[in-house]
Amino acid sequence: MKLSQAAIFLTTVAISHIDQSHAVNFIVIQPDDLQFYDDWSPPPYLPWNRRYPGKSYPGSSTLPWINKLRSDGLEMTSAYTAAPKCGTSRYSTVTGRYPSRSSHGRMQAQNTGVTSPSDASIPNTKLRDILSVTDGQDCTTSNLAQVLKANDFETGMVGKWHLSKTNTVGDSIDGVRAAINECGFNDVEAMYPDNMDPSFQGWYDSSWSHNMEYVAHKAVEFIEDNVDKNWFLYMNPTVPHSPDVADAMTKNCLITPDGDFSTTNNPNGVAEPTDWCVEGMTTPDADGNCDCMAYRETIKTRAAGSVANEDLGSIWVDDAIGAVYKALERTGQLSETFILFQLDHGQAEKDKIWEGGIRIPQFIHYPDGLGTAGRSFHGMVSTIDIAPTILDFAGLTEEYSMDGKSWKGAIDDDITGDEWKANRCLAFESGTERAVRCGCHKYVMMNDSSPEKLEAESNSWWTGNEALFNLCDASGNYIVADSLTPSPEAVNIIDDNQELADQLKALLDCHLLKTNASADPIYQECTLNGDPITTTTVAPGPVAPIGPPQLLSSNPAQNDAVSGDSTVINAKVFDDDIRRVRFRVQLPNSTRLSFTDGVKVSSNGDESGYEFAVDTTVKGKYGIMLELIDFSGNTESIPSDGSWMTFLVAEKAADVVNSARAEIATIISDHPTNLAAKFVRMGFHDCVGGCDGCVDMLNGDNFGLDVPIEALQPVVDLYSHTDFGVTRADLWVLAALEGASGSQDTLEPREFAMEWVGRPTCEDLNSVCVDNNGNDNGCSEDRGPHRELPSPDLDTKELLAYFQAEFDYQEAWETVAIMGAHSLGTLSRENSGFNGINGWLGNTRDLNNAYYDDLMGGASDLDDFETLMESADWEQVYVNNEDIGTPNRWEYERGVDPHFVMLNTDIALVRDLSEGLIGDEGEVSECQVRCGRRNGNGCALPRCPHAEETWEAVKTYKFDNEEFLADFEVSFKKMLTTGAETDAGCASSPCTVPTISRRNLKKNYLRK
Ligand code: HEM
Repeated sequence: MKLSQAAIFLTTVAISHIDQSHAVNFIVIQPDDLQFYDDWSPPPYLPWNRRYPGKSYPGSSTLPWINKLRSDGLEMTSAYTAAPKCGTSRYSTVTGRYPSRSSHGRMQAQNTGVTSPSDASIPNTKLRDILSVTDGQDCTTSNLAQVLKANDFETGMVGKWHLSKTNTVGDSIDGVRAAINECGFNDVEAMYPDNMDPSFQGWYDSSWSHNMEYVAHKAVEFIEDNVDKNWFLYMNPTVPHSPDVADAMTKNCLITPDGDFSTTNNPNGVAEPTDWCVEGMTTPDADGNCDCMAYRETIKTRAAGSVANEDLGSIWVDDAIGAVYKALERTGQLSETFILFQLDHGQAEKDKIWEGGIRIPQFIHYPDGLGTAGRSFHGMVSTIDIAPTILDFAGLTEEYSMDGKSWKGAIDDDITGDEWKANRCLAFESGTERAVRCGCHKYVMMNDSSPEKLEAESNSWWTGNEALFNLCDASGNYIVADSLTPSPEAVNIIDDNQELADQLKALLDCHLLKTNASADPIYQECTLNGDPITTTTVAPGPVAPIGPPQLLSSNPAQNDAVSGDSTVINAKVFDDDIRRVRFRVQLPNSTRLSFTDGVKVSSNGDESGYEFAVDTTVKGKYGIMLELIDFSGNTESIPSDGSWMTFLVAEKAADVVNSARAEIATIISDHPTNLAAKFVRMGFHDCVGGCDGCVDMLNGDNFGLDVPIEALQPVVDLYSHTDFGVTRADLWVLAALEGASGSQDTLEPREFAMEWVGRPTCEDLNSVCVDNNGNDNGCSEDRGPHRELPSPDLDTKELLAYFQAEFDYQEAWETVAIMGAHSLGTLSRENSGFNGINGWLGNTRDLNNAYYDDLMGGASDLDDFETLMESADWEQVYVNNEDIGTPNRWEYERGVDPHFVMLNTDIALVRDLSEGLIGDEGEVSECQVRCGRRNGNGCALPRCPHAEETWEAVKTYKFDNEEFLADFEVSFKKMLTTGAETDAGCASSPCTVPTISRRNLKKNYLRK
């Protein structure tokens, strides 16, 4: 397989190795909403406010520890965040990428139909894997913590996180912690999932709030526990952000999100000592506990009576940094620890791309690497540079593509340093606004409702949707806050500098192109004339003489399947310039092995072969990644986007099924819609006429199924292997089984095992698949043979007959049970899967007997018949659906916004509608389920009689969920083997289905 013959565009870093005799540790400290202080080289004053940040009291003199990091370290005087908001800034720090790269944001942009990159709204930057977008492994691969962890660093996180979609990770501290662990941080302590304001996902409890002593305590504990290791700690103080800091300081610091340590250790009402002592922040009280109150009084004194969040909070953060500093000193690690302090964004104009929003202070304290004389660097650096820089200082290569680049080589090199000051280009993203700064000039692109534009216009500085600013003085130096100098951003110089503006605009267009959410990501640096630079050499060193190394072929190739307990991977490379080929393997349990050199086994002119043996005793999905290194030290990663080439190792169908099922479960939980329900519906529609992994998307009844088909595609690509007899049709069935079994909310959910494999697909069966014009152009997953799906207007008898004819259901309960699948999706007019991805959004429901509860009244199966005949408020109404493009029809509704909907086929389980079901729009003219006002009939019509055949089964399920699930499983499995001869039984599943037959449908049961 030819992987990459085109030029490779990568930021390359000089290769060296960690000197194991010399430790290096990293701390990144990023407080929430801290402000710039006047003596920290702040950006120019805001155009409308000569003071920055609006007030200077009490000022940074109250922050000795942060000032020490600055005065004894390296001050970045032109540091930026890639995006001026909490989550986006953190995302760029942790990944080395622009927030527009975030897989979560790209998926949202794709789902909302954003086509123009600048319409994609930033922030949408959770650290999540979204496998449906290319290079979507932000969590498990493409972040700093993962790379360091894979290289034997201990990784930790304390304080505010904000990078998980918390309502999808279990809404518990442990759930969020597990999600953060997944993303590479081994040790997650004193963790606050999000903002603590009551409006934020419910992460609020009035008994606890900010607690910097606890955060500092856990940071110190991490530092002390890892003296013998290399480590990385991401420390995120929750202050000075809201909620109210003064109020937080009145709360007992032993009460935390992790529990109330003042009482849980205290069974007899006597407080027992905890180990909660933080140097400089606590004092022992009478019970031997470490008390925070006396210390907190000193904060108030130092804030000189101010109760403002920024004044109290900044001092609290500073003391926590002091505690960390002292712990490093105490454990002898201070000089070998690289401490990077920065703000998440400029607090003066948070969320906007004014300099007051994007410029941040950044100080690095690292005695062994930078000395302690105090120095500064004036080149432009960004949060996206932190990850590559840290890897560079650690002596590690990047293992995935980043936007940022290491400044390690630039700070000591006058030429490169000047280049970073005068010519480097950085992009900035916020909402739908974008900006670039190259050297002195900054170009801003806005739309009519951009806040920056509205601010500029209302203050009469300038108008228009584009602006160009000169941020430098006459000597080419960046203008810092100075009350005598007008803000450069109050003056739009675009009219007199159109050519320069065009150049910067081209550069911004290049940035938008390479970060376009609906295209595969491109990792290239954009130059001033808009052309991408092909290779960037960051560290000093020779440039490759003949271009980047190339991989010509590899085996196993992507999506191959192999068997055996050991597999030899071989790669053919273009050999003019290759010195080493290194292989890395990811095991089925996601563990990554270290890079290992391959053995050169052949050499033939321009090509060489390298081999590498992998132990494949454990069956499942393996990933491989290669690194080609040339004689100049340049590297090329394959695949270049940091993803893995995957191949499957299996001995038998069961290995394939188990592995695929685990992957399907992940895809379901990562998907923004209730994919479990969509897989179940897809299973039903596919198996009408025989399960063959094909549906006809020209049939309107199948609308919406494109979503599950597409979501399952990666699983189909990897796991449908004839060698093991597992087909696409089987994987569709497997997805339906997993969708149903994973949606149970009971203590002992049923497993819904996959008992049969080997279902031929519609292509294998040489089916006839005609298009709109009646031409058979071949079959595929979305161009299946035309199958008539059941009309929504069948009465009870017709419904039973349909399911008998189609799925061989002989007993009424089989049909009643299968219809319980509708508990998975509450249909509403506004929320229909016919609208594709937008339908059924967020409609996460369980597979349970709730459906029958909606159909029948009563609180006990012993209730009298009249009580049971009461049902929820279902009333027939005529609905005009022209506005949403689905047919007008009569249906049963209740509730408003959304209107919940039932169809005649649902109601037919409890009511005999045979009298008076007329027309092709579903009207029942002679009786009604419940009299009411919606249809204007009042109680004019008699009540429809009960449905004799199905009534008992509905009653049983309504009052017994276990019974329902047991029967559902039987009916569902029967459905999912439609067309297969399975009567012989199956001793050890999965068994291969011997034959597939076609049943002739009885047309009279179909759509009226
Ligand atoms: C007479 C029989 C049936 C009719 C007329 C029917 C009709 C429908 C309709 C109109 C929808 C709404 C589609 C939308 O707006 O997105 C729906 C949803 C659904 N149906 Fe059925 N259905 C029937 C039987 C079944 C069966 C037997 C199953 C499964 C075994 C099933 C599973 C589902 C599921 C899971 C949904 C929700 C889909 C989602 O959330 O995306 N249905 N059905």
